[in-house]
Amino acid sequence: DTAGYQHFLLKEIHEQPAAVERTLSGRLDERFATAHLGGLNLDARELREIRRVKILGCGSAYYAGEMGAQLIEELARIPAHSEPASEFRYRNPVIEADTLYIAVSQSGETYDTLAAVQEIKRKGGRVLGVVNTVGSAIARECDGGIYLHAGPEISVASTKAFTSTVIAFALLALHFGRIHDLSPADGRRIVNALRALPGQIREILDQEEQVAKLAAEFAGTAGAPTEGMMFIGRVRGYPVAREGAQKLKEISYIHAEAYPASELKHGPLALISPELPTVALVPDDELLDKNLTTLGEIKARSGRVLAIAHRAPEAKLADHCIVVPKSEPELDPLLLNIPLQLLAYHAAVALERDVDRPRNLAKSVTVE
Ligand code: BG6
Repeated sequence: DTAGYQHFLLKEIHEQPAAVERTLSGRLDERFATAHLGGLNLDARELREIRRVKILGCGSAYYAGEMGAQLIEELARIPAHSEPASEFRYRNPVIEADTLYIAVSQSGETYDTLAAVQEIKRKGGRVLGVVNTVGSAIARECDGGIYLHAGPEISVASTKAFTSTVIAFALLALHFGRIHDLSPADGRRIVNALRALPGQIREILDQEEQVAKLAAEFAGTAGAPTEGMMFIGRVRGYPVAREGAQKLKEISYIHAEAYPASELKHGPLALISPELPTVALVPDDELLDKNLTTLGEIKARSGRVLAIAHRAPEAKLADHCIVVPKSEPELDPLLLNIPLQLLAYHAAVALERDVDRPRNLAKSVTVE
């Protein structure tokens, strides 16, 4: 049951602090400033031989994989890339012995992801699973992996499993990093930041009322929904933009595009008008100035801007801002995504959509 919440989706959004605690539970090692992952079935020597990481998943699992790839590259300095499992399996993929393949799935039953795992294994590749459902088909097929322990996810749109997947990747990246060149001081920085995340997620969820008002303003009404929304972010912000656009599409049926902020001027700037609001990810990192310049370009075309930021930009650059607490830069994407879940949820409610069972979608697609 929905435990007093209006929808499973809202319940699952609010379960995230507890889900994150469960994903982290027993896995952080203060002494060596690393993570323990008992199910990898790979020792340090085998991990050192890995030259590349390829992450595969569908839908939100694929976008969580994009955040995972960034974490692995940043903390372990190993090239990592996420690709839709549905595409990978159809293109006769080159399987390399020194690549680690990682399949991501909440249900563990998505047919495209399972087929990708089987193809890799048939060619002799090594696959880990980042899976929520214990004993599921994908979990059984993999050589090892990380269980999320996020608890059951009922609503079709993924929220807590998405967040727990990013946490699992942060643990893997930390473990990997500390086998390579991540210093103990940097390892400790990540361990401490991970511990602080549940409380920081609660702080964001406390702003729900403000996000609900903005969602209604930007989404329009059931009779007159907005034309669409643009989501933009740079580098760490880009996977956040993609997942934010996906969530909005899935449950509110509002057309949403996600673009790297840097690409705006190479095409989609032509779309900017007062009828197409922009949601901009504006973390306080080394790209802040670049992002603020992009906001100026949107405002100069009479675009409306909702910023998700660590500090509110000047009023002439953003019409509204949702301020999120700061983590370490590598982990900020996870927190920046939380307001976008609330935004999609309240947009869907404002437009009177079937929040938990959006049209044309299934929780897990177990057919080809
Ligand atoms: C889609 C669901 O069909 O499958 C998405 O509608 C989900 O919400 C995707 O992200 C992948 O599912 P899973 O179970 O493999 O993570």
